[in-house]
Amino acid sequence: MLGGSRLTFVLLSAAVTCAVAQHAPPWTEDCRKSTYPPSGPTYRGPVPWYTINLDLPPYKRWHELMVDKAPAPGLLGNFPGPFEEEMKGIAAVTGIPLGEIISYNIFYEFFTICTSIITEDKGGHLLHGRNMDFGIFLGWNINNNTWVITEQLKPLTVNLDFRRNNRTVFKVASFAGYVGVLTGFKPGLFSLTLNERFSSNGGYVGILEWIWGKKDAKWIGFIIRSVLENSTSYEEAKNILTKTKILAPAYFILGGNMSGEGCVITRDRKQSLDVYELDPKQGRWYVVQTNYDRWKNAFFLDDRRTPAKACLNKTTQENISLATMYDVLSTKPVLNKLTVFTTLIDVTKGQFETYLRDCPDPCIGW
Ligand SMILES: *[C@@H]1O[C@H](CO)[C@@H](O)[C@H](O)[C@H]1NC(C)=O
Ligand SMILES: *[C@@H]1O[C@H](CO)[C@@H](O)[C@H](O)[C@H]1NC(C)=O
Ligand SMILES: *[C@@H]1O[C@H](CO)[C@@H](O)[C@H](O)[C@H]1NC(C)=O
Ligand SMILES: *[C@@H]1O[C@H](CO)[C@@H](O)[C@H](O)[C@H]1NC(C)=O
Ligand SMILES: *[C@@H]1O[C@H](CO)[C@@H](O)[C@H](O)[C@H]1NC(C)=O
Ligand SMILES: *[C@@H]1O[C@H](CO)[C@@H](O)[C@H](O)[C@H]1NC(C)=O
Repeated sequence: MLGGSRLTFVLLSAAVTCAVAQHAPPWTEDCRKSTYPPSGPTYRGPVPWYTINLDLPPYKRWHELMVDKAPAPGLLGNFPGPFEEEMKGIAAVTGIPLGEIISYNIFYEFFTICTSIITEDKGGHLLHGRNMDFGIFLGWNINNNTWVITEQLKPLTVNLDFRRNNRTVFKVASFAGYVGVLTGFKPGLFSLTLNERFSSNGGYVGILEWIWGKKDAKWIGFIIRSVLENSTSYEEAKNILTKTKILAPAYFILGGNMSGEGCVITRDRKQSLDVYELDPKQGRWYVVQTNYDRWKNAFFLDDRRTPAKACLNKTTQENISLATMYDVLSTKPVLNKLTVFTTLIDVTKGQFETYLRDCPDPCIGW
């Protein structure tokens, strides 16, 4: 529920504390090489897989997972479609109050900063990667220089295989207890990640409108899940993500299954402001999105965009692969203390890999 001014406040107070800027060594480093397959101090470990059976009634779908992982984490209301029943089911099994489950489910509207990348190689093959950075707002652990929430989210990170008729419909990387989606793909068809967009006309305006009964706009994590569940092509997904009213500003990073199908959709709550697409014929073989509009400078204390682009340029289109994508996402400050996990997606090959991350000192807080 933070607007841009609150972000600025948080980052400035952190900066005053640390008295450093992100672009000075040792907070940056040369583009990493040969970090894949993941190992060493920036790799915390693998992420377990669970199945969510869409043939079960919504109330029961999450029981197996939540019995395994009763999470550490109020808004009540009429959530759309299956979401409310699913959340009630999770609350009953874990004993956590429903209000807590719901606020956890809208945490996107609170605070995430992320990096998402789509690339196209010389053969027209697409790849999609993302770092999920979350938790700046809620406290710093001075004993080992980590963000409290970031650390608590790591053991809750799960890969989910949503199945119907015993067949995969879509897969996501998420946190146990969160029924929306911020990172996912539909094998063979498209991949989709969400990055938060800070704006003075921010998420809280939409949430207040929603509480006061104006329920025509969609929760961000829920619209992504609906698109993954029910859309059957890149074009259909793009159309919905461009046109549907949403509760908070956002960047949707969408990849398809053939050359040229990759874009960043910059969203206001009511409309799309910009759709920036791959254009391999003109040499635009990647799109990179962090948390700033592409036509504006990144906030000077938080420029992960320039380092990511510099490393992609250095990699070259000839050599882009899941392995070199992981290198880019492992280079500070694209990798930082907020990074919970890295996901790599190959839509046409059906690959979806998620890795828990650490950023040992010296490493910037964001
Ligand atoms: C830091 O300390 C917290 C609290 O003791 C712990 O949960 C977390 O795993 C630690 N993180 C690292 C990277 O050592
Ligand atoms: C689901 O498919 C797996 C193989 O993919 C099979 O072993 C299992 O028996 C199937 N389950 C049901 C309920 O059909
Ligand atoms: C997907 O579509 C079906 C059929 O219209 C609907 O019942 C279901 O709620 C939708 N799923 C989501 C997540 O919106
Ligand atoms: C790519 O997606 C389209 C739908 O947009 C689908 O019809 C086509 O079969 C997909 N191609 C492959 C190779 O899966
Ligand atoms: C990356 O390469 C493009 C195309 O040559 C160039 O316009 C851009 O400035 C480069 N960016 C960085 C950060 O090196
Ligand atoms: C691309 O990869 C090849 C083979 O690993 C390597 O020889 C070459 O130097 C790489 N090119 C760049 C620009 O890194």
